Amino acid sequence: MSETHPAQVGGEQGVRHELRHHDGSTRSVLVIDREVPYPEGKLIVSRTDSEGRITHANRAFVEMSGYTEEELIGQAHSILRHPDMPRAAFKSLWDTVQAGQEWRGYVKNLRKDGAYYWVFATVIANVRAGATIGYTSVRRKPSRSKIDEAVALYATMRETQT
Ligand SMILES: Cc1cc2nc3c(=O)[nH]c(=O)nc-3n(C[C@H](O)[C@H](O)[C@H](O)COP(=O)(O)O)c2cc1C
Repeated sequence: MSETHPAQVGGEQGVRHELRHHDGSTRSVLVIDREVPYPEGKLIVSRTDSEGRITHANRAFVEMSGYTEEELIGQAHSILRHPDMPRAAFKSLWDTVQAGQEWRGYVKNLRKDGAYYWVFATVIANVRAGATIGYTSVRRKPSRSKIDEAVALYATMRETQT
């Protein structure tokens, strides 16, 4: 799916990936095989404009992402995209919320430091006077068994994606 190059990060073995976004643009990201556990008892919340650019991030979001709030606001939400996530997962997300329905799913997110964290996300459209002005996502801690299922499902989906 993407080219990888080994890289040394603070004593940990990281890998550089070329991420390809839905618009065909690419971005080089650092990936480390280290999971950061979902913070107990917290909701990770963000809002975007109608094109998916981050307009609000709560404290738990900022802390888990490893970015500062200033670095996040105004960026495309794909700033957290992990190369292990299949493109079809996000197509389903956008198709669902643009049709006015709620999307729920398991997402592996990439932190600024290259580590990752799993979330169970709910995404809805924010509609005012009949028009979608943006989207909100609220994330909860996923169970380990659901994470394991998502790992297997996403691996299969990545094998078949073009
Ligand atoms: C409210 C909202 C929250 C989102 N949260 C995430 C997220 O946490 N991680 C992520 O990778 N994509 C998230 N997305 C999806 C991104 O907008 C994007 O579709 C995805 O990262 C793939 O982008 P790409 O095809 O440009 O690489 C979210 C979208 C919306 C509307």
